[in-house]
Amino acid sequence: MTRLIVGIGGTTRPESTSELAVRAALRAAEDRGAETLHLGGAFLARLPLYAPESTARTVEQQTLVEAVRRADGLVIGTPGYHGGISGLVKNALDLLEDLRDDTRVYVDGRAVGLVVTAAGAQACGTTLAALRAVVHALRGWPTPLGVTLGTGGSRRLFGPDGACADARTAAQLDLLGQQVTSFADALSCTVTTSRMP
Ligand SMILES: Cc1cc2nc3c(=O)[nH]c(=O)nc-3n(C[C@H](O)[C@H](O)[C@H](O)COP(=O)(O)O)c2cc1C
Repeated sequence: MTRLIVGIGGTTRPESTSELAVRAALRAAEDRGAETLHLGGAFLARLPLYAPESTARTVEQQTLVEAVRRADGLVIGTPGYHGGISGLVKNALDLLEDLRDDTRVYVDGRAVGLVVTAAGAQACGTTLAALRAVVHALRGWPTPLGVTLGTGGSRRLFGPDGACADARTAAQLDLLGQQVTSFADALSCTVTTSRMP
């Protein structure tokens, strides 16, 4: 059965590194036979600020919630902003509260690959830890590999065509896509109803 891997992440910046990194991991998933859907920075910027008291949903909000509901695996990418997840990405993740009452709660039973880009190593580490904590709260299974990419130096990680321009970056994002798809296959065999008693 073809698996659907949904990517969430990026910034509105042209050539956003977090966006290109998510795309590269999704390409790796496609290479392993998965279908993919990427909700990048431009899409995320059209999501209204999540308001817990409101049940009205825009088309974009419905698209995101339905995509995650259908997903067999996820890739989430964010820049490190002031040591943590960007507001754009966190706003999208807050919306997953709409999956709270699903039989398959939030992202339960789904592998989630994580990518962080930041200028410095410290924000890479703190942001990855924060993102992993969010995925755990959403009952997801972060893959063993979490990719952190330092963007502060002179080394170019991606070319103008969006392809990885750096062998180590390419290898890590390929492995991330591989882990998400192979975990999606493995986890599809498990029981996936885990509401809190
Ligand atoms: C508002 C803002 C806050 C940032 N905070 C940090 C930070 O705390 N530590 C760090 O290393 N880089 C920080 N950066 C740099 C970004 O994490 C880095 O440039 C990242 O690669 C940008 O992602 P993008 O290419 O997807 O836009 C910040 C950038 C912005 C715009």
